Amino acid sequence: KVREKVTIHFINQDGEKITTSASEGETLLDIVLNKNLDINGFGACEGTLACSTCHLIFDEDVFKKMGPVLDEEMDMLDLSYGLTDTSRLGCQICVQKWMDGIVIRVPQEMNDMRRKKESARK
Ligand code: FES
Repeated sequence: KVREKVTIHFINQDGEKITTSASEGETLLDIVLNKNLDINGFGACEGTLACSTCHLIFDEDVFKKMGPVLDEEMDMLDLSYGLTDTSRLGCQICVQKWMDGIVIRVPQEMNDMRRKKESARK
């Protein structure tokens, strides 16, 4: 089966618009990592729901169309900085065809819940 290409726009922390194409079924985290998009510190835990650095803010209509937030995602989302009513974690969102052309905002600040543990590595 040929996977549809979907265009996704991100607005990064600097307010720059980054337009990229993605395949159906990829997560938003996959896109940021595979395309090496300029979003600082994104996806620090590689999608294991341990960091909340993949916090993204969606338009309300898009948010409503996405599936329900699972408890595990909600727990981590609650810890993200600048949480909004239309926030989700990018590593939990799979690209679907209807998402073509959506604009996703990256919050100004992010909270890496693992920062304390990780800081020794830097
Ligand atoms: Fe860490 Fe999504 S990448 S919670």
